[in-house]
Amino acid sequence: MSIIEKAANKLRKSANASTKQPSTNEISTSKEKQAQLSHDDKPAKIIINQTLSPLVPETDQVFIDLDKLSKLGVVTPDQGKTQIAEQFRVIKRPLLTNAFADPKIIKKGNLIMVASSLTGEGKSFCSVNLAMSIASELDHRVLLIDADVARPSIPGILGFGQKKGLLDILLDKKLDISDVMLQTSVDKLTLLTAGEERHSHATELLAGHRMGLLLDELAQRYHDRVVIFDSPPLLLTSEARVLAARMGQIVLVVEAEQTTQQAVKEALKQIESCTSINLIYNKARAFSGKEYYGYGYGYNYS
Ligand SMILES: Nc1ncnc2c1ncn2[C@@H]1O[C@H](COP(=O)(O)OP(=O)(O)OP(=O)(O)O)[C@@H](O)[C@H]1O
Ligand SMILES: [Mg+2]
Repeated sequence: MSIIEKAANKLRKSANASTKQPSTNEISTSKEKQAQLSHDDKPAKIIINQTLSPLVPETDQVFIDLDKLSKLGVVTPDQGKTQIAEQFRVIKRPLLTNAFADPKIIKKGNLIMVASSLTGEGKSFCSVNLAMSIASELDHRVLLIDADVARPSIPGILGFGQKKGLLDILLDKKLDISDVMLQTSVDKLTLLTAGEERHSHATELLAGHRMGLLLDELAQRYHDRVVIFDSPPLLLTSEARVLAARMGQIVLVVEAEQTTQQAVKEALKQIESCTSINLIYNKARAFSGKEYYGYGYGYNYS
């Protein structure tokens, strides 16, 4: 039995056995959770012909403070029509279309890497926003993976401490993905951190057979789930290039007035094996010249 199948079984058992009372913070989503569980139990109610894989916590649940996140400028599921929510609605549309397109046209389309040339251009910020925006969809679930194994920042943005994750699974064959996958208080969002330990052979681990198997299964068996990978800078690390070669889609973040044309060209060269590349023009300024306007629209490069 594969690691993903084991994870699915464990999660299913956990779903059936769960009698935990919701905390105050979970009350707002408890009805949706019940609806989701009964949905999983009754395949007859499947939405648009896709079997939603179970997504209930094995042990750990991460509470995400949505008010705090909203103040940081991040999209939250109940936010309504804010500017940033609208921009990510536009950005995610083509990505979702590709994610569930015919695999003969886009292979592993549900594996989406958020990349950029250099540091600080907004990869992690856009990864979290994209994940949050997709998690607010009725029929899509999201797994956000912190694949910036050298300098992980997803726990910092979402407000929780470092936990076991990707590198731990790749290093320890006994470790099951369900042991480290984190359910969050956002109903359709699960997380996989970069892992507790930094590792000098991170590139080899990401390029290795076990990572390949993990990605294949995430793409095929969990075809109903969008998997977003936050990543290290393409031009500064070899991990990012290795990862890019295995993705179905890549979103390249370009920082307004910062990322040079040369850097964009070099980054595009690094990821040219990917058939679906979109760009986000990030941190563009408002016409007043003072505040961030937010994002340009994503568009298809290839
Ligand atoms: N559109 C935006 N509006 C406002 N702030 C932004 C925006 N995009 C990014 N930032 C801010 O810019 C900083 C750098 O962003 P982020 O950490 O996402 O970059 P990164 O590309 O992931 O960097 P690294 O390569 O170091 O991981 C953060 O403080 C983030 O909050
Ligand atoms: Mg980052």
